[in-house]
Amino acid sequence: MKHQNVVVIGTHWGDEGKGKIVDLLTDSVAGVVRFQGGHNAGHTLVVDGKKTVLHLIPSGILHADVRCFIGNGVVLSIPDLFKEIYELEEAGVEVRNRLLLSLDCPLIMPYHIALDQSVERERGNQKIGTTGRGIGPAYEDKVGRRGLRLRDLLDEAQLRFKLDGLLKQHNFMLEQYYGAEPVTLDACMAASIAFLEALKPMMGDVLAELSQLRRAGKGVLFEGAQGALLDIDHGTYPFVTSSNTTAGAISSGCGVGPRYLDYILGITKAYTTRVGEGPFPTELHDQTGRHLADKGHEFGATTGRPRRCGWLDVCALQRVVEMNSLTGLCITKLDVLDGLDSIAICVDYQEDNDGAIKPVYEHLPGWQGKTASIKVYQELPDNARAYLDRIEALCGIPIDLISTGPDRSETIVRRAI
Ligand code: IMP
Repeated sequence: MKHQNVVVIGTHWGDEGKGKIVDLLTDSVAGVVRFQGGHNAGHTLVVDGKKTVLHLIPSGILHADVRCFIGNGVVLSIPDLFKEIYELEEAGVEVRNRLLLSLDCPLIMPYHIALDQSVERERGNQKIGTTGRGIGPAYEDKVGRRGLRLRDLLDEAQLRFKLDGLLKQHNFMLEQYYGAEPVTLDACMAASIAFLEALKPMMGDVLAELSQLRRAGKGVLFEGAQGALLDIDHGTYPFVTSSNTTAGAISSGCGVGPRYLDYILGITKAYTTRVGEGPFPTELHDQTGRHLADKGHEFGATTGRPRRCGWLDVCALQRVVEMNSLTGLCITKLDVLDGLDSIAICVDYQEDNDGAIKPVYEHLPGWQGKTASIKVYQELPDNARAYLDRIEALCGIPIDLISTGPDRSETIVRRAI
């Protein structure tokens, strides 16, 4: 990599294809860092022909010499962490001596999962469509200054004391308000301290190690999860996740200060998708929408839910460029648009008579040739290049990478990152 500290951020509602790009860039870094979110993220990888879905562990784990970090901004479900570790180990990947977990990671406990699911049930048709993994309630406990952190496992007596209080509060809500089953202390111990001995060698000071790498001039990749429009502050609230998914979260989520970030890459799908509920102005309910879903295999890696599909929302993207101070873009899944007669880009919104937000489109001609597997920019069909040029012009930043297929080699590098 040309730049030392590189950030990868999804520009819409997640599932932009960050995993492949992170995997590609990981070739030339010493470390990969997760700094927000939890195991709500999903990234499918193929290791020696065996499919592995990573939710929590940075995908850099597949590169033998890369150190992987889970920063304090990540909410940690310990049983799910070990599920991934076992799966990777079965596939022959060494994990434990290459993974460092921040002692300050908030823990996702069984009552968070029960609460997430109860709250969603209670919301009925107002539901957020969460992944049901306890992410929101775990962040609530964090900002409520009562949550457990990884370091709490080091003092069992204190842990039991804190759990006693937390269980009283959360079970009250679960039983009295939501009419759900209470969570037991045993279940909480089994989901946390039971793993202590296995966790100890992986627990440590993420900030200190990242600082060492920086001083040694080593490259580090910061792997954003979800997408900018799911950001708790800047996203489509309340239909968002419970963390900051934008680049500003790096400093709070792992301790690396903003001045040390050298390149911020926005990963943008050539069209737009969304899982879960919430506004999606460019969503298509027609044949084209189905074409995008089928050809793009648009099913969530975490929940398997079908993704909603629509035209590229450049109007939202312009704000995302600004809020992340993006350096450049990577356009993914360009090949999914192959064969369409006409392609639309949303460049503005308009309120209709009923107060609903409608997209204002610019229409561009499609292309009949193939972009699939093309590795040289000049070989793209003219209209595909015109589409990319228009996105660049509207966003005011360069498209430095283009992905034309799932394989690592199916990538056009226009400018080294
Ligand atoms: P939560 O993060 O489980 O609380 O879910 C909140 C919203 O974020 C829901 O609409 C989820 O579908 C969405 N979401 C969470 N993680 C991802 C992701 O990795 N990709 C896409 N959507 C996500």
